[in-house]
This record gives sequence, structure tokens and C-alpha cells, in this order.
Amino acid sequence: MPKQFWKGSALLAPVPAALVTCGTPDKPNVLTIGWTGIVCTRPPMTYISVRPERYSHDIIRDSGEFVINLTTSAMVRATDFCGVRSGRDIDKFDACGLHVLPAHEVSAPIIEESPVCLECRVTESKLLGSHTMFLAEIVGIDADERYIDSKGKLNLQQCGLAAYAHGEYFALGRKLGDFGFSVRKKKKKK
Ligand SMILES: Cc1cc2nc3c(=O)[nH]c(=O)nc-3n(C[C@H](O)[C@H](O)[C@H](O)COP(=O)(O)O)c2cc1C
Repeated sequence: MPKQFWKGSALLAPVPAALVTCGTPDKPNVLTIGWTGIVCTRPPMTYISVRPERYSHDIIRDSGEFVINLTTSAMVRATDFCGVRSGRDIDKFDACGLHVLPAHEVSAPIIEESPVCLECRVTESKLLGSHTMFLAEIVGIDADERYIDSKGKLNLQQCGLAAYAHGEYFALGRKLGDFGFSVRKKKKKK
């Protein structure tokens, strides 16, 4: 099938539609972030790209801390809402029925309803153009005990994670395999 060639754009999909919290448990804010990812394993590092006009931008710049809260199908309405309303005008936690809890390592709060929260401390920031990229170390993880089995394994499949692709939200689908399955030797039947 022939492909059309288009000019470059931000068409990477799927990406997480994460809820990024900033501020403090007493004065929190939350915004939806699609431009995020992992950039290093050791030390564990991530980035978020935030437009300078967002209310959250200066809070993150000044505190140097934020939390990436993964979102689920059950949270998708709140995820969209937090991406189209500003904390300048409204308490988004109240409006969406989201609850904050204190984090362990950073001043920014975590969201109780989120299954996995990544506590992040900014190491560098760079204005790239439309967005400031905040590069950050992931200094702690808060994982919902409901999804951790007796062996300590986190079963993300059970969380009902949501994804964002080219302007639309999706529920993560069925499992297709796991890391290395393509080369793994099958166990012999006894
Ligand atoms: C799915 C989705 C993804 C978004 N991703 C980003 C992003 O990566 N960076 C950004 O600056 N804004 C992003 N936004 C927009 C902000 O979340 C939105 O402007 C928000 O209202 C800012 O809130 P604040 O003013 O309280 O900080 C996204 C919005 C949606 C709905």
C-alpha cells in the first residue's frame, strides 16, 4: 500500500494521557500530559513537556517537582477535563472527584485513584519551542496494592490503563505477549 508523505508533526501514538500533579497537598494542581516518556533506566528518568502558558508550568518550574499519575478507563473523563480546564479558574480535584494523598519523596501530591504514581524531581529544563521540557529523575513509585500479587509483581493489565492516540482515548486492549516471548524456548511438557 503506498504511503502519503506529510510534513513533520507530533504524531507518535499511543502515548499515555497522564495526570500530572504539582504544588502541594494543601494547594495542589493537576493537568493532563500526553508528551511524556522514559528516557533512561538507570537512573530512572522521564520528561514532561509543558507549554509556558499552563498554570502548572511555573509551579513545576519553581518547585522542581511533579508526579506522573497513570490513568485508567475509569479516570478518562477526569483526564480529559483536567486537560481542558485550568487550575487558574477551578479546583479540578473537586470538580472531578479526585483525591490527593501526600507523596513520599516530593512535595507534589499523588492521586489516590491512580494505580501507579511516579514521583519526579526536575534535573533540567529546556524551552524547546512551544513547550518546556522538564527532564526529571523518578525518585519514587506509589503502586496500588490491589494490583500487586503475593510475589510482589505489579499486574498492570488489571488496572485498565488508558492511552491517547491522535486526539482520541482508548482502553488498553488484550495482552499480546510479554518481554522476550518471541525468542523464548517453550517449556517441554512432562
Ligand atoms: C489528552 C491531552 C493531552 C495533553 N497534553 C499536554 C502536554 O503534553 N503538554 C501541555 O502543556 N499541555 C497538554 N495538554 C493540555 C493541558 O492539559 C491543558 O491546557 C490544561 O488545562 C492545563 O492546566 P493548568 O492550566 O491547570 O496547568 C493536554 C490536554 C489533553 C486533553
